[in-house]
Amino acid sequence: MRYLVVGGGGREHAIVHALSKNVSKENLFCAPGNAGTEALATNVEIKASQIRALVEFVQLKDIDLTIVGPEAPLVDGLCDLLRKNGRKVLGPTALAARLEGSKIFSKQFMRRHNIPTADFWHFNQYSEILRFLDIAKFPLVLKADGLASGKGVVICKNADEAKKVAHDFMENRKFGEASEQILIENFLDGVETSVFCLTDGRTIMILPTACDYKRAYDGDAGPNTGGMGAVSPSPRLTDDDLALIEKKIIVPVIHGMQMEESPYTGFLYIGLMLTKTGPRVLEFNVRLGDPEAQVILPRLKSSLADLCLAAVDGTLEESQPEWDDRAAVAVVLASEGYPEDPKKGRAITGATLPPSENHFLYHAGTKRSAGKLVTDGGRIFAMTGLGKTINDARSEAYKALKNVQFDGMQYREDIAHFD
Ligand code: AMP
Ligand code: GLY
Repeated sequence: MRYLVVGGGGREHAIVHALSKNVSKENLFCAPGNAGTEALATNVEIKASQIRALVEFVQLKDIDLTIVGPEAPLVDGLCDLLRKNGRKVLGPTALAARLEGSKIFSKQFMRRHNIPTADFWHFNQYSEILRFLDIAKFPLVLKADGLASGKGVVICKNADEAKKVAHDFMENRKFGEASEQILIENFLDGVETSVFCLTDGRTIMILPTACDYKRAYDGDAGPNTGGMGAVSPSPRLTDDDLALIEKKIIVPVIHGMQMEESPYTGFLYIGLMLTKTGPRVLEFNVRLGDPEAQVILPRLKSSLADLCLAAVDGTLEESQPEWDDRAAVAVVLASEGYPEDPKKGRAITGATLPPSENHFLYHAGTKRSAGKLVTDGGRIFAMTGLGKTINDARSEAYKALKNVQFDGMQYREDIAHFD
């Protein structure tokens, strides 16, 4: 069997790494991959956005299963096109990917199926928003409808702030078509967490819990990022919370998509706020999280390839994967200037570590230039440590990352630190 992983970040290195336990290098491809995936797979020079080129490659190499990492190609219909060509692929159809690709679709879907979420209003006219904002109660959350690389959500404390954001989104078309329509939500107070599952459209497999650290600096200060670290299991969720979330949210989502004749297959990431009145959905992502994948997948003891095939073939009900009891903690090593203006092209040393059962260095924004390893993005690596307890896993990750060096390297010192 031949496998293609689409994407080139830390999440995709984690997918390739997990697959490589059962799949040989000659049968594993990653497009475009990074300097980490090239040790385990053949990197293919096709970007995740080049859908037609990806389909051609799958045909040419007779790939048996494609696993799509990031959201954009899913929203753009990569899975539909591959299936049309008779190819197996793990990921939702473009219609089902609207759970992430259109925040308005996702909120209306939740309303139709009584899935708990913040109250909301949606607008396609700037003049209507202005009238609404004059009488609205704050704080409110403004969201661009479409994909905006995590930058399309702004919490507004008053009408002036909200009008400015609405003007930027709609009149200045800050995110083009993606911000032509706007969603306004009530602000939810509580503890933020997420739940991940894999589904074949019918059977739902809840994955080990994980949560990330979104702010750039220690103490949850500084700008929002894609995630500066992660821990699994999530200390923010009890088993009771999880049971309630499964019943009230996850099952209704998967059944709702089935009922609307748009069954959802693949990984689903549910962002939640645990409020005083129960868990409420903040957002859906139609993929695994990054860096959450770097703490979930290293805990998988069974074959990821088999699990993905079961999800594609509709036989997930028969799968009983084994998970490592150990905890995992990932610390992201980011470039100077991340997230606003990451500096690229810096030489990296110390990234080749002796193999260990207890840690693994996932690459993200790395590449080889004239044979040398250099930085090529915002988030460069995630060092994942495994240990009996979260504290052990954290110590392992922080100890191992001391080897890695590049100019301007920044990381948070307080990932999974609860003392
Ligand atoms: P989203 O991409 O919709 O998850 O929004 C990005 C971030 O904005 C979330 O991770 C939350 O921290 C915050 N957020 C989104 N919606 C709300 C809400 N209704 N109330 C409070 N915070 C929110
Ligand atoms: N870590 C957040 C995300 O993957 O969207």
